[in-house]
Amino acid sequence: MRLLFVGDIVGRSGRAIVEEKLPGLIEKYRLDFVVINGENAAGGFGITETIVQDLIDAGADVITTGNHVWDQRDAMVYCERQPAFLRPINFPSGVPGKGANLYHARNGASVLVMNAMGRVYMDALDCPFHAVERELDACPLGDFADAIILDFHAEATSEKQAMGYFLDGRVSMVVGTHTHTPTADHRILPAGTAYLSDAGMCGDYDSVLGMDKEEPVQRFLRKVSSSRFTPALGEATLCGFAVDTDDRTGLAIAAEPVRIGGQLSQHIPTFWENR
Ligand SMILES: [Fe+2]
Ligand SMILES: [Fe+2]
Repeated sequence: MRLLFVGDIVGRSGRAIVEEKLPGLIEKYRLDFVVINGENAAGGFGITETIVQDLIDAGADVITTGNHVWDQRDAMVYCERQPAFLRPINFPSGVPGKGANLYHARNGASVLVMNAMGRVYMDALDCPFHAVERELDACPLGDFADAIILDFHAEATSEKQAMGYFLDGRVSMVVGTHTHTPTADHRILPAGTAYLSDAGMCGDYDSVLGMDKEEPVQRFLRKVSSSRFTPALGEATLCGFAVDTDDRTGLAIAAEPVRIGGQLSQHIPTFWENR
């Protein structure tokens, strides 16, 4: 099975490259299932229901989020009627929306997608490790799910790597989001889980984390905010993580980053050409 995870979309230029490139990637490389983190898609802060639908129309099967999930207030309402939308699973009980759900891929397989948020240098939510464990107890790989994807939205690479090893052999892919900066540590862990500390963003990299660079630089220099953060509008790079799984086990057999367009070095997974 062929999975693609796409990192945090930041603003208009991030949406533009995803909407321009994703339909062709799905068609050309026969992608079975696509997950996109959309937490910064609406002007850098949150995501609207219209943008969720635009990304689904472009080929996304699931939209995950993170600490910016509620920046657009109506997300609290539409999350209940949009099954493709996930918020972090470890919010307190009673918060609207879901943090995990089972979906059908284009090839008919069932895919469990989970979205969790880290707690190191972030809000003190419930424990992400126990939250994910409970979900896997209810829906283990190979029984109810043919593939399992975790978007672990976290700041610290230590917490992300710990989650990778905690889940090794029990999920298809653990991919980090939130830092908006792609890491080069993609690998398949010993028991078969594909791992990447951060997928990077879909946004203009001539920026600070996707935001126009003047204001962030000024804030570091002066410790005073003089204007709002606004997304940089130059050409974005689409950044993601491509994983092929063994149909019998649901574990990874190939894993490479994806980088298309914009300022970063380009990379199309070599194994995409081979099917
Ligand atoms: Fe983000
Ligand atoms: Fe974030």
